[in-house]
Amino acid sequence: MYLTKEQEQMLSGAQGEIVERMFRLLVRLGDIYGADRMIPVGSVQVAGVSYKSIGDPGLEFLEDIAKKSVKVKVPTTLNPAGMDLEDWEELGFPEDFAKKQLKIMDAFRKMGIMMTATCTPYLVGNLPRFGEHIAWSESSAVSFANSVIGARTNREGGPSALAAALCGVTPNYGLHLDEKRKPTVIVKVNAELKDNSDFGALGYHVGKLVKKGIPYFKGIKDADVDRLKALGAAMAASGAVALYHVEGLTPEAGFMDTKGLETIGVEEKELKETYKTLNTGKDPDIVILGCPHASLKEIATLACKLEGKRLRKPLWICTSRVTKEAATRMGFTEIIEKSGGKVVADTCTVVSPIEQMDYKTTGVNSGKAANYLPGFCKQQVVFKSLDDLLEGQTA
Ligand code: F3S
Repeated sequence: MYLTKEQEQMLSGAQGEIVERMFRLLVRLGDIYGADRMIPVGSVQVAGVSYKSIGDPGLEFLEDIAKKSVKVKVPTTLNPAGMDLEDWEELGFPEDFAKKQLKIMDAFRKMGIMMTATCTPYLVGNLPRFGEHIAWSESSAVSFANSVIGARTNREGGPSALAAALCGVTPNYGLHLDEKRKPTVIVKVNAELKDNSDFGALGYHVGKLVKKGIPYFKGIKDADVDRLKALGAAMAASGAVALYHVEGLTPEAGFMDTKGLETIGVEEKELKETYKTLNTGKDPDIVILGCPHASLKEIATLACKLEGKRLRKPLWICTSRVTKEAATRMGFTEIIEKSGGKVVADTCTVVSPIEQMDYKTTGVNSGKAANYLPGFCKQQVVFKSLDDLLEGQTA
């Protein structure tokens, strides 16, 4: 692999032991995937932040790096943590868990990483441009960046993203290359998509069918950013899909040649079947929205629906701290909290230890959350549209 003078220096240890270790990791990765060189990245998004996901070994690894005073070379943001970093006590997060989580955050802070704790960094200041090379690791964020923005990233693991942050480069392979961004299958949607959850159901179904492929959707007439993030998140969860194109909607779709590709049809009945498959529970103990993290628009929509009402069961909407601040300024947080709900920042359904908090059945409107909750959080799932989840839950 071709290396510049500065990169040779990193490899030789001239920038310290940690940078050397991290750069070696990137070189190994590049060798495995046949990269010709390293490319500078505009930003990094690091996953593996929750204590639930990385445990004590992860914490020790991060503290070891932080101790050596190395700093990231490019703007770097963090995935959700395992708890709301401010209101964890009030929300009932276990104290032992909280102490470890705060140590993890401290280690990241010492490395100069922005403490955004969100899987929608593109909504809160880490917005790449079209065609920009980045190294992101959370699957829904990777899908959004590649597909909706047209930036270029492979799905990095926690360590390789951290290595890219500390070295400022990533190996040039996979979705960084034009030829690897071409669609592999056409998906013709013959179903009406009325709610964000329908996009989650579609994503879950298509992810299962195309498995790591690159779908080119036809028949999706309109979709806002929230619906596209729901679609991509579910496909990434069920099929490790890191890039998709939507005819007329996503930026690279118009440049793609689809001649000769196999076409898969998706009908109404398949979406209904998907809802059935994902619904493993009946009556939720808690409803958790915001997977991927809710936008200000989604929080506003919820506030409108809850205004003047009282919830019978707990309800959280998960989002970033920055979005919560804006929601609070707009009065949405107060409306939601008056109804008995909670705007929870910094964490999410899947990476928080809700199974230790006495919840057994969780209601969600996200195809990704519905996919992961049974395995990661030992939850039964009620997967419905927002209106259906709220029906019967308010007085
Ligand atoms: Fe984000 Fe957590 Fe869902 S990281 S995409 S809210 S599982």
